[in-house]
Amino acid sequence: MKKIILAACALAVSVTLVSPQAFADPAGELKYRQTTMKSVGGHMGSIVGILKQNTTNSANLQVHADGMVALAGISASLFPKGSNVGETTILPVVWEKPTEFAAAIKQFQDASMGLSMAAKTGDMAAVGAAVGNLGKSCKNCHENFREKKEKK
Ligand code: HEC
Repeated sequence: MKKIILAACALAVSVTLVSPQAFADPAGELKYRQTTMKSVGGHMGSIVGILKQNTTNSANLQVHADGMVALAGISASLFPKGSNVGETTILPVVWEKPTEFAAAIKQFQDASMGLSMAAKTGDMAAVGAAVGNLGKSCKNCHENFREKKEKK
């Protein structure tokens, strides 16, 4: 019993030591950001496919738009300080310019909300404009906060 309590104390101490930016595994945070960004990219690809009428699944547009809203809603959590380790294209400017970065997140959230609202109207011209606007929000953040790497 005493051993368990001691172990629990040791754990508490080690957790305290890495605070306040406490996350256990920078590589895990990096991977989570990249896989979640792939989900963002996945919804975008599906939305563009529907817009181009490459699929008969146009009824799914709202699901992808709302998925984008949900992902934009958690997007600020994808960038814990210190997660720029290993194979990443993120730039430290994310943490050096927090106001600008927060604005890029907000642009993404507003644009995805705009798409969700346009999708509800069923007006495909409005959807097209909203998708263009959403694309601008990706581009804005990628251009300012992501390294320009040649595609391998
Ligand atoms: C607020 C900033 C921001 C916004 C907005 C944003 N991204 Fe990203 N995205 C990043 C960063 C930073 C990376 C690089 C992640 C890394 O390598 O650590 C990235 C990486 C990616 C990747 C590559 C993931 C991988 O490693 O395989 C894809 C795909 C992607 N973004 C798609 C999108 C799309 C599509 C949108 C818009 C609908 C978007 N992103 C909006 C910041 C953003």
